[in-house]
Amino acid sequence: MLSLSKKLVKSAGIRSLATAQRSMSSAVPDFWKDVEEAPRDPILGVTEKFLADQNPDKMNLGVGAYRDDDGNPVVLQCVREAEKQIMGNKFMEYLPMGGFKEFCDHSIKLAYGDDNSLVKANKIAAVQSLSGTGSCRLMADFMKKFKPGAKVYITVPTWSNHHNIWGDAGVEKETFRYYKPETRGLDFDGMMEDIAAAEGGSFFLLHACAHNPTGVDPTADQWKEVSKLMREKGHFPFFDMAYQGFASGDCVKDAQAIDIFLKDGHMVGCSQSYAKNMGLYGQRIGCFSLTCNSEEEKTAVESQMKRIARATYSNPPLHGALLVSTVLGDPALKALWYDEVKGMADRIIGMRSSLRENLEKVSGDKWQHVTDQIGMFCFTGMTPEQVDAIYEKSIYMTRNGRISMAGVTTKNVERLAKAIIEVTST
Ligand SMILES: Cc1ncc(COP(=O)(O)O)c(C=O)c1O
Repeated sequence: MLSLSKKLVKSAGIRSLATAQRSMSSAVPDFWKDVEEAPRDPILGVTEKFLADQNPDKMNLGVGAYRDDDGNPVVLQCVREAEKQIMGNKFMEYLPMGGFKEFCDHSIKLAYGDDNSLVKANKIAAVQSLSGTGSCRLMADFMKKFKPGAKVYITVPTWSNHHNIWGDAGVEKETFRYYKPETRGLDFDGMMEDIAAAEGGSFFLLHACAHNPTGVDPTADQWKEVSKLMREKGHFPFFDMAYQGFASGDCVKDAQAIDIFLKDGHMVGCSQSYAKNMGLYGQRIGCFSLTCNSEEEKTAVESQMKRIARATYSNPPLHGALLVSTVLGDPALKALWYDEVKGMADRIIGMRSSLRENLEKVSGDKWQHVTDQIGMFCFTGMTPEQVDAIYEKSIYMTRNGRISMAGVTTKNVERLAKAIIEVTST
C-alpha cells in the first residue's frame, strides 16, 4: 500500500519525495498567526480568581447564579418533579428549527399574560432559544437582516455581553443614560432626554426587571412615561427579561413593563430565560418573541427567525424545553414553581436588609440603595481600586462594584459588610 506522502507525490505528479516534502512544508501557511488572545470576560474572570483562592472562607459574589443560605446551587423541587415525569422519555429526535411548540406557547403566555389579546389572536412570533443570550443574539441577527441601518440603544451600564452580542451581529450601538452614580438610582431625566434625542424608529434594549448590573428598575409610573415617549418617537422596545420573578418574587408583576407598553399599542420583542428563575442555567433554555400585526405577518416573521436559527445551530436542545413545558403545563407544578421563585426572591430581599443593617451598624452611614435596588444584583458604588482591595480579603465581585446578592448568606453577611466598610473608608 502506498504511504500518504507517496500518494501525494503520485497525484501531484512531483518527481521526488524530497521535492514533495519541501514543497509541502513551504506550502503550509500559519493560518492563525495574527490571532490575539481575547480580552478576559469581566464576569467569568472573577470566577477564575475565586477558584484559584485557597481560603476556605472565600466568597464568590461575581457570577449571577442563585445559591441557598449555605452557598450551594439549587435544583428546584418543581424541576425535580418534572424530571420524574419525563424520565424514560424515548423521544430523542431533533426538535424543529423553532423548537418545541408547546414550550413556546407556555412561554409567551408567561411573558405577555394568559389573557393577552395578541396571544389569543396568534399574533406573536416565537421560537425556542439557547437561553437569554441566544434570544438576544437571534434578535440582533434579525435586526441586522430586516432593519439594516437601525441602531440599538443600550443602557449605561448594562450586562457586558449585550455589547458583544449586538456588536458581533454587526448592529450599530448607541448608549443611553440610565444610572445615576450620585444617587445610586435611576437617571430618569437623562434617560428621557436620550430617548427623545434618538432618531425615530430606533431600537431600545430595555431590562424588563431586575436591571443587571445596577438593580435599579423604573417604577410603574416611570415605565408609563417611557412608554409614552417611545411611542411618540416610534421607537421599538426590546425587553431582555432574564429575571422574571426574581425582582419582586411575582412573575406577573415582574412583567409589568411589557404590559404597560402593550397597552400603549407598541409592537414589542422579548427575550426570556429560564436560567435564573427555574435554575436551568446549563440547560440553555429560553424563548425569543416578537409581536406582529396579523397572523400572516406572524407566520412570515417566525419563518425568518427559524431561518436564522437554522444557519446558527439548526435546532435547539430538547431536555430543557421538556422540563419547562412540564412545569408550566401542570397547574400544581406551576404553583410550586411560583412559590419557589418567591422563596428565592425573598431570600435575596432578606439578605439586602441584612447587608444594609450590618453596613449601617459598622459605618453609621446610610446604605439605603442596598435595599432600594432590586433583583439579583447590588451596585455598591465601590470603585475598581476598592474592589481590588476587597479581593485581598478573598471576596470576589466584578470590578464595577457589582455584588451578586445570591452569594450573600446569613453566615457571610457580617464579614462582607465589615470588608466593604474597610475598603471604602480608606
Ligand atoms: C441582563 C441579562 N440578559 C441575559 C442574560 C443571559 O443569561 P442566559 O443566557 O444564561 O439565560 C443575563 C445573564 O446573566 C443577563 O444578566
